[in-house]
Amino acid sequence: MKAKITVAAEMKIGEIDRRIFGSFIEHLGRAVYGGIYEPGHPMSDKDGMRTDVIELIKEMGVPVVRYPGGNFVSGYNWEDGVGPVEERPKRLELAWGVTEPNTFGTNEFMLWCQKAKASPMMAVNLGTRGPDEARALVEYCNHKSNSKYSDLRISHGYKDPWGVKLWCLGNEMDGPWQMCAKTATEYGRIANEASKMMKWVDGSIETVLCGSSSRGMRTFGDWEATTLDIAYDNVDYVSLHQYYGNHANDLPSFLAKSLELDDFIYSVICTCDFVKAKKRSKKTINLSFDEWNVWYHSNGAPVERWSFAPNQLEDIYNFEDALVVACLLITLLRHADRVKIACLAQLVNVIAPIFTKTGGGVFRQTTFYPFAKMSQFARGSALRPIIESPKYDCKEFCDVPYLESIVTYDEENDEVALFAVNRSAEEEMLLDISILGFEDYKAVAFESMDGYDIKQENTFGNESVKMHSNPLPEENGKNVTACLKPLSFNVIRFKK
Ligand code: AHR
Repeated sequence: MKAKITVAAEMKIGEIDRRIFGSFIEHLGRAVYGGIYEPGHPMSDKDGMRTDVIELIKEMGVPVVRYPGGNFVSGYNWEDGVGPVEERPKRLELAWGVTEPNTFGTNEFMLWCQKAKASPMMAVNLGTRGPDEARALVEYCNHKSNSKYSDLRISHGYKDPWGVKLWCLGNEMDGPWQMCAKTATEYGRIANEASKMMKWVDGSIETVLCGSSSRGMRTFGDWEATTLDIAYDNVDYVSLHQYYGNHANDLPSFLAKSLELDDFIYSVICTCDFVKAKKRSKKTINLSFDEWNVWYHSNGAPVERWSFAPNQLEDIYNFEDALVVACLLITLLRHADRVKIACLAQLVNVIAPIFTKTGGGVFRQTTFYPFAKMSQFARGSALRPIIESPKYDCKEFCDVPYLESIVTYDEENDEVALFAVNRSAEEEMLLDISILGFEDYKAVAFESMDGYDIKQENTFGNESVKMHSNPLPEENGKNVTACLKPLSFNVIRFKK
């Protein structure tokens, strides 16, 4: 089949905020304990941080990491996780039914962020706790000295403030599974007050209001409109969360899930702008898609109640999951004008691109590769693509273009990058690439992920599902034609 993509240098969607390549570490399963933190492991440093994991996170290119939850945060007392480790309490952790030892907490996370070259995105507990504890945590993290909580931090051995810039106002507060879930009005008021007070402590921070915990929530839309109506002036972003699965083993529908994501993002933008219009506001609320991923392989796996760091939500990803992650990330980039933050949920072991053995090795899951490639090369601005592609219908969607694609332009490095998925399982795609205004650019690299069984996975010592290099695509006059293999993720880079 043939398809065409046309972009022009001047037709920018928007600047790509690096934070769109964020991720997430929750106190859940083996994300922290046995994931990023494992004192005594041969690869751990003096602070107990696994350096093999840190190396992979750097390779993946993750500029921001959300922490400590997730559902966990709605019952978390941040004070439990600071100060002398031997004095920290063990808690029954109600979100995931496990025991939390609190040997890793805020300061350990900040230290870890420094080592992983990521900045922290902290969530505050607006479930069992509220604005008072939230503002105290900002003071603990960000205030220099000479106040109760900044002096407490100093007494814990951390003289300099951590300067945390990004704060989530709770987590999924619309969900009945959440500790102290709230109605939109209840949450809107608490979030508004918390944000106001947190910003009074440190005027340089940005805050994220909880949107719906998924597009499927009965209150979706009304929740965003009501909470934003209350908190509009005091918050900077609204959150979106969504996970996708292939429960029905229906590949054409699974590959098309990014159409649903596109629609979800569009609906939230419309709701933000509806509230903006109602308020005659000059301020625009942007989007923080702070939980997204494929998640379904591990659903329903039993966990021993009150155990410590069990094997929870440990999805092992396959090749089709990697293609879906690529489509989702391309879609996020297509909304670069409004999606400023996004977090692949999560980062290590728990529905994650990096998988460890406690006491053992680590490997890159299939989903690691499209993320890492896009984080490395989708820089600068996203260009608005005009896509001409044959389409298909499937059980869940109509008119699905076989081609999912975005082009980015990195002005600083004189580089243009095209990211494309061919959704067809049967046919190669001859893609005609027309990048107007870049006539003096030449293709310099063509990499792809293709040719694997759709259910093929990676494992320890065998990362066979990964990117590989191809011969450069053909140039014909001003255009370039690339052959995209059936079921493939492709990255073509052009340089001046
Ligand atoms: O990422 C796993 C869980 O999914 C998070 O704790 C929660 O916010 C969401 O429901």
